[in-house]
Amino acid sequence: MTLLPLNNAPLAEADAVIARWGRDPHALVQILRETQAQTHWLSRELLAHIGVELGLTRAHVEGVASFYRFFHTQPLGRVRVLFSNNITDRMLGSNALLERLCQRLGVEPGQVDAQGRFSVDRCSCTGLCDQGPALLINHHQVITRLDETRIDQLAECLLAGVPVEDWPTEWFRVMEQVRRADVLLHGLSAAATALPVVLARTPAALLAEIEQSGLRGRGGAGFSTARKWRLCIDAAAAEGQRCVVCNADEGEPGTFKDRVLLSGHADAVFDGMTLAARAIGAQTGLVYLRGEYRFLLPHLQAVLQRRRAEGLLGRNAGGVAGFHFDIDIHLGAGAYVCGEESALIESLEGKRGTPRIRPPFPVERGYLGRPTVVNNVETFAAVAHIARRGGDWWAGIGTAESTGTKIHSVSGDCERPGLYEYPLGTPVAQILQDCGARDPQAVQVGGPSGRCIPATDFDRRIAFEDLPSAGAFMVFDQRRDLFEVARHFARFFAHESCGLCTPCRVGTELVVRRLHKLAQARGAGQGSASDIERLHELDELLHSGTHCGLGASACNPLRDTLAHAGAAYAQRSTARQFQPDLDLDAQLSSARRVTGRKDPGAHLQTEHEA
Ligand SMILES: Cc1cc2nc3c(=O)[nH]c(=O)nc-3n(C[C@H](O)[C@H](O)[C@H](O)COP(=O)(O)O)c2cc1C
Ligand code: SF4
Repeated sequence: MTLLPLNNAPLAEADAVIARWGRDPHALVQILRETQAQTHWLSRELLAHIGVELGLTRAHVEGVASFYRFFHTQPLGRVRVLFSNNITDRMLGSNALLERLCQRLGVEPGQVDAQGRFSVDRCSCTGLCDQGPALLINHHQVITRLDETRIDQLAECLLAGVPVEDWPTEWFRVMEQVRRADVLLHGLSAAATALPVVLARTPAALLAEIEQSGLRGRGGAGFSTARKWRLCIDAAAAEGQRCVVCNADEGEPGTFKDRVLLSGHADAVFDGMTLAARAIGAQTGLVYLRGEYRFLLPHLQAVLQRRRAEGLLGRNAGGVAGFHFDIDIHLGAGAYVCGEESALIESLEGKRGTPRIRPPFPVERGYLGRPTVVNNVETFAAVAHIARRGGDWWAGIGTAESTGTKIHSVSGDCERPGLYEYPLGTPVAQILQDCGARDPQAVQVGGPSGRCIPATDFDRRIAFEDLPSAGAFMVFDQRRDLFEVARHFARFFAHESCGLCTPCRVGTELVVRRLHKLAQARGAGQGSASDIERLHELDELLHSGTHCGLGASACNPLRDTLAHAGAAYAQRSTARQFQPDLDLDAQLSSARRVTGRKDPGAHLQTEHEA
């Protein structure tokens, strides 16, 4: 044990957290998160200390701390306010509210006030699009339904130094707006008595039921659940070494269905994980909960504790002799890419969330090198229902290729945002009608990595064979400028790129810059057809040349809006010839500053000037 310098409270805080996590280096992300919750930020000294205590290099610990947006290696305000920057929050006026708060507090976005009391900034979508504009306080509490009055009250609390615990509880109320419930959102009954009955069946019988149901994953790719489990069973592993991981990262902007499932139907999700463990022979279960949903943690821990007391978890879980299974929860720290299953596993292992090179796939070598099944929250909830009511029952809902129901997170320009569950195969038009969409121009189905659908396609059906969806359904009415929608999502992907591969790291930024040039060009005549061609080329490059799904889908909004909202681009590309937007001489200014050059020879000269 390292001796602590006297009065060094942050190091003592870190030691307490490290001890709680059993000095496990694989818990580094959790240790950094919990330490920062006490110390407000992570100094180099603190990171070095954590490295020594966990037997990790300083470079490793600093590399992890610098990867996640919710870790801060520079001093931050004691209260950190982060406005959700999803497009739907912006449509509800979040930008003006952020400016109002900054003005009231006398700080700039991204800066800390002089006394170190607070800081205000933006973060990616907080998963509260049905009750925005929303913001996060200290990365673990959320305030929804912001308006000018609430912002002014918030400013008063911050200026008066009122502790967060004493703020009105009403501010932190998160609603579960279920507008249309089908089987999943109606819920399960009698969790404690029904699970042992289905668990008592053989693993082979359970797997056969899931196979019969035709269930496909709800996290986006739509991979057959039974096939994934079978691949995991076929991978070589010692007894009980396999793992079940629930992907609750839900970072796709516009998606909030997993939040509602976890808050209202956690038993169904944990039932599904337990059934998966029984089917594949796993002892370890992990939930990767996105950092923005930290406010759900006490509830989820309480449900797990109750299930342990009921004998549904632990040794001989559900009364099945020899079946030992328990579930732990790990929190993310604000990185969208960690929803990608191999990046998620890296994060669970306490590393930077960089997607792995595959093969091997997680079902062969996943968490700590063990065969691992990763499934979405909704997939596990569906498993719980299928195990009780049978594969044939589930297969009878939806279409032949897309069985069962799907939950949609509806937000944007509509009267009734919230959750809508329908059988797969339901047309976009039906959902638009039910949610009271106002004069819809387009719908972003499946979030920015999904598809932007124009009105001419509203008869298309949400199903794997037509329009697959991971769950987001953002409505844009005729007032919205789809060019700006695409530009907003381009910035999101550039911001979230993990930087591993060049086409994504550089390509996403080039898309942002080209769209920025076009945005500036409106009316000024600088954009040309050549800019649009370059955008098409970048789209091709990203689709084909990137390492993971983030880069591959980063240009989807651009591609779709170019195809069906061409006028928005045409009015920004009216120049007959290409106009460069790069001022080479200005770009050299930092080099001049470093070398101390002020002479004319240090400037680029045009032929004309020469
Ligand atoms: C950038 C990126 C982000 C992702 N985010 C999520 C997510 O938040 N939740 C999720 O379930 N799947 C997400 N996925 C898909 C997962 O990699 C994986 O396919 C899924 O968790 C498998 O579960 P399923 O078979 O039940 O769909 C993401 C994929 C990519 C490329
Ligand atoms: S495509 Fe982007 S997010 Fe994915 S690995 Fe490459 S750089 Fe990282």
